Amino acid sequence: MQKILIKNIKKLVQLRDVQVSTIKGKDMDVLPCLDDAWLAIDNGLIADYGSMSDFPGIADWKDLQVIDASGKMVFPSWVDSHTHIVYAGSREQEFTDRIKGLSYEEIAQRGGGILNSSKKLQDASEEELLQQALPRLHEIILQGTGAVEIKSGYGLNLESELKMLRVIKKIKELTKLTVKSTFLGAHAFPLAYKQNKRGYIDLIIKEMIPAVAEEKLAEYIDIFCEQNYFSFDETIEILEAGRKHGLTPKVHAEQMSHSGGVEAGVKCKAISVDHLEYVNEADIKLLMNSITMPTILPGAAYFVSLPNPPARQMIDAGLPLAIASDFNPGTSPTGNMNLMQSIACIQYKLTPNEAINASTMNSAYAMQVEKELGSITIGKKANLFITKPIPSSDFISYSFGSNLVETVILNGEVYKG
Ligand code: NIG
Ligand code: FE
Repeated sequence: MQKILIKNIKKLVQLRDVQVSTIKGKDMDVLPCLDDAWLAIDNGLIADYGSMSDFPGIADWKDLQVIDASGKMVFPSWVDSHTHIVYAGSREQEFTDRIKGLSYEEIAQRGGGILNSSKKLQDASEEELLQQALPRLHEIILQGTGAVEIKSGYGLNLESELKMLRVIKKIKELTKLTVKSTFLGAHAFPLAYKQNKRGYIDLIIKEMIPAVAEEKLAEYIDIFCEQNYFSFDETIEILEAGRKHGLTPKVHAEQMSHSGGVEAGVKCKAISVDHLEYVNEADIKLLMNSITMPTILPGAAYFVSLPNPPARQMIDAGLPLAIASDFNPGTSPTGNMNLMQSIACIQYKLTPNEAINASTMNSAYAMQVEKELGSITIGKKANLFITKPIPSSDFISYSFGSNLVETVILNGEVYKG
């Protein structure tokens, strides 16, 4: 494996000597960096770093690839802890319908929304799904993402949920990304069970969860806790059933209304609760005493014109906060984590430092890769990106719409596509 030395780095961003698992409250605005630095990569890992002023001779390094990063910055890869990147087709007709005045809910009531994607997915083969997902993965890699969580949830029957999860397993094998997989059978009630919701919940608990666990197809179990989707009690029942089979809970919580998703998530020791547009004071208190990472998904709130989540209030209360993309065909047809930073800063008044901490260390915690990713730390996986020449780290979220990622390194190798 090639050894890489990056020298003359204008700024090495998000340096953490001491292992931290989450960054909370006021600390979120602190971003440890080193100016005029070098970084050594060996055997897929971050081997060492330091100041150019005490640049060591690395005489014993043979076949060393040297990258001159003059004027450029090095960031740890973005960690995107919430996506639905495996899907069939697209839903721009619904986008246009919403522009003309229909709401997300009205479209869903007409059989659009998740059920629209579900029909398309059920008709697609595993190979077709993989071939549609790979270019999306390529795109997010070029935008700086180095780890991604991917959910099922458009299958909505045993066979198609397993098909989605098998595609995610293939993605783990085929791409250089670090991938975690989530079973989201409880994403919506399929048409066939519209009058028999109990029947679908039983199917999830008695057939889907055991089959997913048996084939070791997922690390997490997720659920859409929302009016017309899954209730508070159903959320607890399904998450508990998943936990019994070794699946760690996550929740789509408080997205379109206050539905108790945060409370259910905290109760079930969810690793994250995601969306949070309708989070209230009581939820913030519950999160303060929990292991659960509050995660905002700025792409979805922006695309569907939801109210802003009270991100500032959560950080000011002392909570940690993570940012993920929610890449999916219905509410966030992009996985561009640079854009997520900008929306969080512009719309929710996070500082650029807070947004960077939220998209690296804290999102790494939300998919349990904080020991191997999320910061520049000796011994962590060398998943990082080198920017184009930029004046400051704030410039990333400032330059909304631009991709300032120039070179991507995954598992210690320069990504060539
Ligand atoms: O995270 N909220 C539920 N699920 C997705 C949207 C799914 C879809 O519309 O296809 C989300 O926003
Ligand atoms: Fe989602």
